[in-house]
Amino acid sequence: MLKKVDLSVKFCGVTFPNPFMLSSSPVSNSAEMIARAFDAGWGGVAYKTLVTDRIPITHPSPRMHGCNYDGKRLVGLQNVEQTTDRGLKPNLRDIAYLKKHYPKHIVMASIMGFSNREWADLAKAATDAGSDMLELNFSCPHMAVEGSGAKVGQANDLVRKFTETARNVTKLPLVAKLTPNVTDMNEPAMAAKAGGADGISAINTVAGLSEVNLDNFIPQPDVFGKGSISGYSGPAIKPIGLRFIAQLAKNKELGLPLSGIGGIETWVDALEYILLGATTVQVTTGVIHYGYGIVGEMIEGLSDYMAQRKIARVADLVGKAVKNVHETSDFNVRRQGIARYDLDRCVGCGQCYTVCRDAGGSALDWNAKKRRPALTEAKCLSCMVCSFVCPVERLITFKEMPKTWKRRKTVTLG
Ligand SMILES: Cc1cc2nc3c(=O)[nH]c(=O)nc-3n(C[C@H](O)[C@H](O)[C@H](O)COP(=O)(O)O)c2cc1C
Repeated sequence: MLKKVDLSVKFCGVTFPNPFMLSSSPVSNSAEMIARAFDAGWGGVAYKTLVTDRIPITHPSPRMHGCNYDGKRLVGLQNVEQTTDRGLKPNLRDIAYLKKHYPKHIVMASIMGFSNREWADLAKAATDAGSDMLELNFSCPHMAVEGSGAKVGQANDLVRKFTETARNVTKLPLVAKLTPNVTDMNEPAMAAKAGGADGISAINTVAGLSEVNLDNFIPQPDVFGKGSISGYSGPAIKPIGLRFIAQLAKNKELGLPLSGIGGIETWVDALEYILLGATTVQVTTGVIHYGYGIVGEMIEGLSDYMAQRKIARVADLVGKAVKNVHETSDFNVRRQGIARYDLDRCVGCGQCYTVCRDAGGSALDWNAKKRRPALTEAKCLSCMVCSFVCPVERLITFKEMPKTWKRRKTVTLG
């Protein structure tokens, strides 16, 4: 076990005290809030997206809706919030304040222009205010200003053009924040690189429509009788975020450092993003749910994991899982296995039997007297659905069968 681990990371040439960042959103809306977050342990912040004051942003009311599932609160969050609704000047003052009082913490100003000129003005203003780096928001899926947000992220030529515009007025590292509402994120990522981006952040919220009120038929959030397709975030989108980070990390031609976002609440979530190629990770919904304090457990959990495995630096973990992400056509289907049952620990609930009949290979018989399943190995599909519904942890596991073993293919009636 190592005595001390180093959580600091270098992202786009900038050194962060640790990889944990607030993502651009209401959790990073002012110096007062961010100062408390830094005190709690966050290493950096993507400051709430700045706009010029030319088109004032008035947010719909209410602007969020929390989605629960099966007794668990906030597995997803639906929001129609856009960029900052504070003025540009107070925001720039706040950035300057943060850099003066927290020089070792990293402030990445997020910006969004509504014209080429505005991209240049904002990049310059945020640079002059003392930001360490800039995040270009090409990804909000519900902007009310025509042709902005994810509309830019879905048009590779615009991604390149606005990145170039920012590149021309600042020497700061530029990170393009991309939208998951595309088929292949590598295309806008390559466009950002061509425009001069130094890194990629992914993902912004997923365009979704999470709930409809059954009494008045209005999708949530209900903005005085109207719903909308808008941004969905939180634990439910983690697989989508991991997918995009893995795809970007596998793209050798891209070769840019990545900041992973989407459904991160714990050190395990964060580490999965890191293993798939992210150097920093960013969080919003986890903070909305539990507050800034969650970073304490993230720091402790990651430190313990590294100490136990004698891993001295976070950099040694970045991308470690990428080589294990393959095309499904690469799988060795000559190797096969089945479900293995440890019946000494069985509680006799019968859920394995039901699921195997209704959704598996009908490979289980049920001894009603003893309340135990009996597996016909040759019929087992190794889908493992029985293990997902079994209430006893690791009672049902996977075992490989010898090469000579054959699965029975025909399913007959009667
Ligand atoms: C209420 C709300 C407002 C957000 N505002 C912004 C924003 O201004 N700029 C931006 O780049 N992303 C914005 N986001 C997206 C988040 O930064 C983040 O990419 C997304 O929520 C996924 O992360 P999460 O699952 O940790 O929330 C916002 C998200 C939420 C929920």
